[in-house]
Amino acid sequence: MRGQWGTRLGFILAASGSAVGLGNIWGFPFMAGQSGGGLFVLFYLACVAVIGLPVMIAEIMVGRRAQRSPVGAYGRLSGDKAMWKLVGWMGVAAGVLILSFYSVIAGWTLDYTVLSIRDAFAGRSPGDIEALFAERTGERPGGVIFLHALFMVMVIAIVAGGVEKGLERAVRILMPLLFVLIVGLLIYGTTLEGFGEGARFLFVPDLDEFDAGAALAALGQSMFSLSLGMGAILTYGSYLRRKDDIVATSTTISLLDTFIAVAAGMILFPIVFTYDLGTAGGEGLIFEVLPAFFENMPAGQLVAIVFFALLFFAALTSALSLLEVVTATVIDQLGWRRLTAAAAVGGGIFVLGLPSAHAELLPFWEDLFGMGFQESLVFLIYNVFLPLGGLLISVFAGWVLTRSASYEEFTAGSRLAGLYPGWLILVRFIVPIGILLVFVTTWAEMFFPDLLSSEGANE
Ligand code: PFF
Repeated sequence: MRGQWGTRLGFILAASGSAVGLGNIWGFPFMAGQSGGGLFVLFYLACVAVIGLPVMIAEIMVGRRAQRSPVGAYGRLSGDKAMWKLVGWMGVAAGVLILSFYSVIAGWTLDYTVLSIRDAFAGRSPGDIEALFAERTGERPGGVIFLHALFMVMVIAIVAGGVEKGLERAVRILMPLLFVLIVGLLIYGTTLEGFGEGARFLFVPDLDEFDAGAALAALGQSMFSLSLGMGAILTYGSYLRRKDDIVATSTTISLLDTFIAVAAGMILFPIVFTYDLGTAGGEGLIFEVLPAFFENMPAGQLVAIVFFALLFFAALTSALSLLEVVTATVIDQLGWRRLTAAAAVGGGIFVLGLPSAHAELLPFWEDLFGMGFQESLVFLIYNVFLPLGGLLISVFAGWVLTRSASYEEFTAGSRLAGLYPGWLILVRFIVPIGILLVFVTTWAEMFFPDLLSSEGANE
């Protein structure tokens, strides 16, 4: 008998635990910073509403219908078509890749929790704090690898414990706490001198800055943040009860996730402008910027400790869903015991994550590909795996799943059954075409820059 969530709230908590994580607080601000701010945010919100929400509904439907993890689910509902099973495996591969670097960044949050406890930011200027990040992550590989290992061990232990006991309990207390802290910081942030400038950076799109890359970055980021496109939400959906409302639940999760991402940006950019730190900090952005904020507020040390600890837990609950997809697949496909599956898969992911923790392990990588190992993984996940996964799941739910099956799943337990025709149009046409458009323009721009620019045309 498959495990099931104890309550609908249990599912909402676990799914939002999966969605809310490093993607919101680490990823959203750093992508927004690198992609020029307002325009990225606008694209992002559009992607969540038009693509993310319908895809989330589709994933949960497919999972609950099939009662399987991705590979089995696509197999079962497509009449065992190899091509669709491959899509399931692609999602599993994405999960492995994501967790391998996700765990390393989660390790950084542990490091910063400990630094806060030791009051290590005291007396440092914002500039010094910014520089500290490179030191922490670049010059002490042993420490970074140790924290990566520690994090993976925790994830394995909880996933080995099973659906209800492990996942549900952990999320129940920590999610609301994180929410309250974010709202508190958001309110406090309005007192900063750079608040107006930060808000303008995030919400006023600069149309001159437009490039298709920002659109694909926003699409990838929205999929990543909502945990879509690789079967995580699908797998959680397979544990959902028939009487629960998929549409209302998906809407709640998407709203919550988006609120936290935008709020994180609204906390971060005013600090960037107040202390003149530069918006394009890349992957280290939150670690370079936030401690300076905490340093200058009342009870800042305590706030710093609680913040980084909660960020760590948010990362943990997301990582649980990543390992759960891969573990559930191994259990469903190979019949392994849960403990064996979680340990074997988690161990492999740890090893795969080593070059993300310490780039020197693959010294040739950067020369070969022009970006670091971890950066390459992020690039691949955001620009290829997740958008492609989202495209395929929407085609699957819209065209492969029979109308009667999708209607039944959409409406079972839902008061919003009347939205079915709208959803069907979205997953059949709007989502696939939208993703394809963003895909094609961005890749075209990347490989044939002359094609789209007016200068190229005049030459
Ligand atoms: N949504 C998570 C975050 O924003 O941090 C990351 C994630 C978890 C992505 C699970 C994909 C996934 F399947």
